[in-house]
Amino acid sequence: MLAILYDRIRPDEEMLFKAAEGLGIPFKKIYAKQLPMKLGTRPPELEGVTCAVERLVSQSKGLAVSRYLKSLGIPVVNAPEVIEVCGDKWATSCALEAHGVPQPKTALATEAEEALKLIEEMGYPVVMKPVVGSWGRLLSLIRDRDAAETVLEHKEVLGGYQHQLYYVQELVEKGGRDIRAFVVGDTCIGAIYRTSAHWITNTARGGKASNCPVTPELADLAVRAAKAVGDGVVAIDLFESPRGLLVNEVNHTMEFKNSVSTTGVDIPAKILEYAWSLRKEAGAG
Ligand SMILES: Nc1ncnc2c1ncn2[C@@H]1O[C@H](COP(=O)(O)OP(=O)(O)O)[C@@H](O)[C@H]1O
Ligand SMILES: [Mg+2]
Repeated sequence: MLAILYDRIRPDEEMLFKAAEGLGIPFKKIYAKQLPMKLGTRPPELEGVTCAVERLVSQSKGLAVSRYLKSLGIPVVNAPEVIEVCGDKWATSCALEAHGVPQPKTALATEAEEALKLIEEMGYPVVMKPVVGSWGRLLSLIRDRDAAETVLEHKEVLGGYQHQLYYVQELVEKGGRDIRAFVVGDTCIGAIYRTSAHWITNTARGGKASNCPVTPELADLAVRAAKAVGDGVVAIDLFESPRGLLVNEVNHTMEFKNSVSTTGVDIPAKILEYAWSLRKEAGAG
């Protein structure tokens, strides 16, 4: 039996439940916040579970759950190692670099003074991002030294410890849009453009989704990026830059509710078929 673990039921999770019914995959929904995670014993909620899909909105809690499932020998999408890499933009950048996947020029400093030096060296404009975060939150576009000093001082004085890692990137000329490619296992199953007048193109921030044809080049790069973070079900953000496609980030709990009709691909079904293919014949099937 397949378990779908959640902390909040969004339209995406509703779509997963429906897809499981449609595919005839035996499944159960598990409210992860009430799952007792005692090491070495399987709680009744997980009796008969042979594979799992972790869908928590909270990244840190999702990671904790994924680790627990792994400790019980239950294959989980995504595996904790994948969440660890995708959940941290610096970890992702380093993994992409190690695997030779093209990405925007990226650097990190551990103190504000050094960050300013990095920024000046990279040349304006630059983008700064918290290493942990999503939906385009707390991104800064910095066009000159005054703005750099302001953002750095705010981070230093007002930011929590996670904001003391100064992640700096070149601003990529991406032509008013980026690409979100969906990868399941070894396959890029579809992609969308996200177009916006704003430099931040997330659909959560008003970016408009439209279908993006999956060219062999896009598929190859998206799958390479997925392999670099350790395989699973991931959504890759890419830029069409003057020097070709660049991978911006890899997301481990993909939102797809706006992308099924846009791409014509049954994304939730593909996710579940993949998770189901990983199942292990545990004691109670
Ligand atoms: N270096 C960059 N150059 C140009 N645009 C960027 C850059 N970094 C981020 N963006 C824009 O901001 C959006 C959100 O950035 P991203 O790194 O994906 O963070 P999040 O995790 O918040 O989605 C991207 O989809 C893109 O539109
Ligand atoms: Mg993103």
